[in-house]
Amino acid sequence: MAQKVAVITGSHKGLGYAIARQLAQEEDIRVVLTSRREQDGLAAQQRLSSENIQVDFHPLDVTSDVSVQQFTTWVQQTYGRVDVLVNNAGINPTMQPEEASLLTVQMETMLITLTTNVLAVARITQALMPLMKAQNYGRIVNVSTEMACLTSMGGDYYPLAPSYRLSKVGLNGLTALWAKELQGSNILVNAYSPGWMQTDMGGSNAPFTADEGAETAVYLATLPEVGLIL
Ligand SMILES: NC(=O)c1ccc[n+]([C@@H]2O[C@H](COP(=O)([O-])OP(=O)(O)OC[C@H]3O[C@@H](n4cnc5c(N)ncnc54)[C@H](OP(=O)(O)O)[C@@H]3O)[C@@H](O)[C@H]2O)c1
Repeated sequence: MAQKVAVITGSHKGLGYAIARQLAQEEDIRVVLTSRREQDGLAAQQRLSSENIQVDFHPLDVTSDVSVQQFTTWVQQTYGRVDVLVNNAGINPTMQPEEASLLTVQMETMLITLTTNVLAVARITQALMPLMKAQNYGRIVNVSTEMACLTSMGGDYYPLAPSYRLSKVGLNGLTALWAKELQGSNILVNAYSPGWMQTDMGGSNAPFTADEGAETAVYLATLPEVGLIL
């Protein structure tokens, strides 16, 4: 495979789809669109194809060891390389009433959110890392949120949303630790906030489109060698 290979998690809709769509228009990048449900992924691949944008598809549930192992084997056998990983898949239980307070938040909700937004990112990154290390090249983009800034925790601007916000604090920490672990290599790890976007998660009142939110992901996914940003 002469082109770079870019894997985007949870990319059949929303921000992930917009990132896949934009990255697929880069000449030297082959996009692998992924989704945990095959029919969703194939439908998204078809939508892009109707715009004359070609992407590959493979199922991927980032919370499943088996799915991640199967995906990694398929990537290895199909391309023998991974150059870009956008950790976009995420859940946000903020709309549930108990999420308004630490007094009421369900530990089960906390667990599922941390599992999806933090541990699953650690899992897929760890699984694909040998392919990046083999070529000493990688661009990893973790989709976070400004709601996870520690300086915003005391303000009234955002809902308390403890599950979601703690999970993204964890994701920011994971990003910094991966960057430290890979220091000195040409594998760059960054996190960014796409802003409040009009997606199923963000709702229709959001000020930004998913396409706007995707622009920084594309920038970070195509950083030159000296472009480490944290
Ligand atoms: N929307 C905003 O305003 C906003 C703001 C800041 C940050 N973000 C972040 O942006 C990212 C994308 O969000 P979005 O707004 O595009 O939300 P979305 O439309 O709800 O999309 C979330 C995506 O993640 C996927 N996903 C969830 N769990 C998964 C799993 N276990 N394995 C694989 N895929 C999984 C979903 O797939 P299914 O359809 O199968 O569930 C879906 O494709 C998230 O990380 C979110 O936290 C969003």
